[in-house]
Amino acid sequence: MLSLTLELVKNNPKRSNADCLKPFAPSEVKKVRAFHESMWGYYHATPLRELKNLAAWLGVKSIFVKDESSRFNLQSFKALGGSFAIASYLAKKCACPLDFDKLTYESVQEKVGNITFATTTDGNHGRGVAWTARILGFPSVVYMPKGSAQERVDNIRREGAAVKVTELNYDDTVRLLAKDAQQNGWVVIQDTAWPEYEEIPLWIMQGYSTMVEEALEKIPIAPTHVFAQAGVGSMAAAVQAVVANRHYRKDPAFIILEAAEANCFYRSMSQGVPVSVKGDLNTIMAGLACGEVNPLAWEIISNYSAFCLSCHDDVAALGMRLWGNPLGDDPKITAGESGAIGGGVIGLLDKYHNLKTDMGINKDSVLLFFNTEGDTVPKNYLDIVWGGKIPCDFRSDV
Ligand SMILES: Cc1ncc(COP(=O)(O)O)c(C=O)c1O
Repeated sequence: MLSLTLELVKNNPKRSNADCLKPFAPSEVKKVRAFHESMWGYYHATPLRELKNLAAWLGVKSIFVKDESSRFNLQSFKALGGSFAIASYLAKKCACPLDFDKLTYESVQEKVGNITFATTTDGNHGRGVAWTARILGFPSVVYMPKGSAQERVDNIRREGAAVKVTELNYDDTVRLLAKDAQQNGWVVIQDTAWPEYEEIPLWIMQGYSTMVEEALEKIPIAPTHVFAQAGVGSMAAAVQAVVANRHYRKDPAFIILEAAEANCFYRSMSQGVPVSVKGDLNTIMAGLACGEVNPLAWEIISNYSAFCLSCHDDVAALGMRLWGNPLGDDPKITAGESGAIGGGVIGLLDKYHNLKTDMGINKDSVLLFFNTEGDTVPKNYLDIVWGGKIPCDFRSDV
C-alpha cells in the first residue's frame, strides 16, 4: 500500500437545510445563465469530456470531466463568478437589467461614478475580476499572497489591474484588502464571505452555477459521485447545490477534494465545526491554498457532502499527467495544478487502501469531475508533465 498521500474523512450528509439551496434553484440558475449568454462574443459553453477507456481501466460505468481550461480564454471557471457579481452590483446600483450590453452603456458609468473593483486572489479569481472590470470600463485593484507566481501576476496586470503582492498568506491578504478597500472606497468583489459581507460572495457562487448547469445539460446519465475541489469552497458548494436541486432519483454522493496543506474542509468535517489552517499554505495547488472556509459554502458542504479527500501535491501532479496522457482515443485534458486534483484521485482510487469501496464506487458508478483550470503557469505544467517533477508512487499493476 502507498503512504498517506490521500486521506479520507466521512461526513454525515444530513441534507437538512434546504434553505441554503434556494439561491441555486432552477429559476435562479436560469437568470445567471441568461446573463452569461448576454456576454456576446465572450461566452461559450465549455466541453464535457467523457473518458471511456479510463472508466474501463478503473472498472466503473462512466467518467465525465467538465473541462474549464478554455473558459473566456482565461483558462479557468473563475470569471463566471466575478462577472456575475460585478454585473449584479452594477444592475442593482443603476436599477437596470442584468444584461451585459446594457451594462456597458455610458449611462451606467455616469450613474455609478468613479468606482474601483478590488479583490484578493491566488490567481484565477483576480484575473476574472480584472477582466470583467476592464470589459465593462472600470479600474481594478488586485492583491495576491506572498509567493504568487510571476505569470499569474502578469496575467492580471495584462487585464489592466493594479496588482500588489503582499507578504501575507491568502486569508490574511483578504483581510488586508478589505481594510484598504474601506479606506479607499473600493468595491470588494471577494469570493468568500464574512459577517455583513455576504451579498457579493453569494452572487459569485451563483455565477458558478452556469458551469454546473452546462455539465448537467450534457451528461447523458445521472451521476452517482460528484467530485469538486475546494479552496474556500464557493465553487464546490455551487456544484453541490445545483446538483442537489436536480433531485435525481438517487442522490449522488458529493466528495470534496482539498490540498493537504490547506485542508480546512477536511479538518472541519473531522471536527464538525469550521476549523482554519494557519501558516504559509504551501502547495502547488495555488487555487486551493485557502485556510478558512467560506461560511456560506460551509453551510451547503457540511449538509450535503459524503466525504472529503485531503490530497498531497503528488496527487495533483499525477492528475496533470493522467489527464494529459489519455488512454486510447479518450480526449486529452490540459489541467493545471488545482484543476487536476480529481485526475490524480482517479489514478489512485483502487490502489489506495479501500478508497473505492469506502466511497461505494463500483461497476455501475458514474463519476463527474471538474477540471477547473488549464496550464495557467505553463512552465510548471511542463516541469511536472514532461520533467517528471513531483513524482507519485503510482504503479499500473497494483
Ligand atoms: C483552478 C481553481 N480551482 C478551484 C478553486 C477553488 O475554488 P473555491 O475557492 O471557490 O473553493 C480555485 C480558486 O481560486 C481555482 O483557481
